[in-house]
Amino acid sequence: MTRILTITTGLIVVAAVLAGWFFFWPAKLTQVQASPNQPAGAALIARGAYLTTAADCESCHTAPGGKPFAGGRAFKLPFGTIYSTNITPDATTGIGQWSDAEFVRALHQGIGRGGEDLYPALPYTSYALLSTDDVLAIRAHLATLRPVATQQPVNTLSFPFNQRFVLRAWKLLFMPAQPWRPSPQRDAQWNKGAYLVEALAHCGECHTPRNVMFAMKRSEKFAGAVVDGYKAYNITPDPETGIGRWSDAEISAYLATGHAPGHGGASGGMAEAIKFSLGRLPRDDIAAITAYLKTVPPQRSALSPPINPNPTTLASAAPWLPAAESGANPTGRRIFASACASCHGWDGSGRQTGNASLRGARSVNDVEGANVIRTVLQGVAVSSPTGAMPAFAAAYSDDEIAAVANYVIGHFGGKPGRVKPQDVKAARN
Ligand code: HEC
Ligand code: HEC
Ligand code: HEC
Repeated sequence: MTRILTITTGLIVVAAVLAGWFFFWPAKLTQVQASPNQPAGAALIARGAYLTTAADCESCHTAPGGKPFAGGRAFKLPFGTIYSTNITPDATTGIGQWSDAEFVRALHQGIGRGGEDLYPALPYTSYALLSTDDVLAIRAHLATLRPVATQQPVNTLSFPFNQRFVLRAWKLLFMPAQPWRPSPQRDAQWNKGAYLVEALAHCGECHTPRNVMFAMKRSEKFAGAVVDGYKAYNITPDPETGIGRWSDAEISAYLATGHAPGHGGASGGMAEAIKFSLGRLPRDDIAAITAYLKTVPPQRSALSPPINPNPTTLASAAPWLPAAESGANPTGRRIFASACASCHGWDGSGRQTGNASLRGARSVNDVEGANVIRTVLQGVAVSSPTGAMPAFAAAYSDDEIAAVANYVIGHFGGKPGRVKPQDVKAARN
């Protein structure tokens, strides 16, 4: 009896020591060196600038109305809010004093300068696939920015999520084992596209569903997920619920400009990715991303609704004139007529700009209207010079926004919208 007790106690002590070692042992810092292929001087800075754009560091590290790269943008999680940090070269509030090794460790392993574990809101599960040369090039470019001193807001995470060491176990389970390696069976364009999509542009961070542990489900890659309340739809080649019926030219147009003829436009996080990153990339890169996307395994997704490109509601409408519609939803129709029709027109082709065309858009075919509600509340500002959409959060009540959302879904998607005022209320918060 006493022997069993001694053995059990012994085992508990050993387990406790091992756990303590695992969680509290200081994170290692490995020295890093660029390969002989790394460019130098101005060529290095230019490569770093390109990579910083392709990796979209700016949109997350800039607060609304704040200085670029100076951080402070809030990320609301179910258990609190965390803020992005200042990555300008300011010596005290930015990363001016960081060594190259510390910078590479942050992007490859999600570890901060003091050895603390970083939250995966910094998408290091994707950046771990970047080559060390490329991370060093990004570092070199960031070092040329003008230093900005900032007051960093304090994170408000609740226990146990404010215990950063918990992330160590998470990372052990979900980090990729090694940087991305080109596939010799594929051509150069495919390999370029794969590296852009998987490592730099981190499309999966928004478009891949997550498991209960908040890690990307590899078996459902790109099948669609919810981000900040927006649905980031299925981008696999499934013909009904994905982009299998989009031509290469349409996919490329959407990624480069935020709009594809016959498929509507981008809003939410996608509009931002296009504004800060994809819309600034060379055409070759966009073509490579498109080529790669066409080769990922198709997935059917319940999140992405099938599209009705020719609803009967649009058959008799002209740009300036609504169709003869049944009198249902007079509130929605009245708001659309006064606040929306001048840009969007009645026949779905978009008036002042083709960018405002709604026929064929996934968002208006989604009876739950997740993206329609949020677009109306927050507006859309894409890089496109042809005009943005204003925010209507302050202009209308929850009931009115639900009514106009259901009108838009019914009219342009040809389906009965199911948006309730409570959904609008929830989206406001
Ligand atoms: C999707 C949003 C997002 C993107 C994209 C992003 N970051 Fe971050 N980053 C964050 C957040 C949020 C934090 C704070 C994490 C924390 O507190 O644990 C962070 C932290 C960091 C840190 C640690 C800074 C410190 O003071 O501890 C560095 C370095 C960093 N990011 C660099 C980059 C670079 C370089 C890029 C582009 C290659 C990038 N980030 C892209 C959201 C992002
Ligand atoms: C920050 C989150 C985010 C990132 C990163 C992101 N997307 Fe999206 N994406 C979205 C959201 C949200 C939508 C829905 C936009 C809408 O309804 O207007 C979307 C829509 C799309 C669509 C249109 C789908 C349809 O059926 O209408 C395509 C194509 C797309 N994304 C491709 C990509 C690719 C390729 C990448 C990486 C290069 C990427 N996205 C990165 C959030 C993101
Ligand atoms: C000043 C012009 C303008 C007004 C007014 C306007 N919109 Fe828009 N709207 C746009 C543009 C431009 C886009 C496309 C944004 C882009 O380039 O991706 C858009 C996009 C949309 C989308 C598509 C979002 C997506 O994710 O696919 C919906 C839905 C929408 N608007 C609904 C409305 C409703 C409802 C109203 C009235 C309450 C309205 N809009 C008023 C210009 C406008």
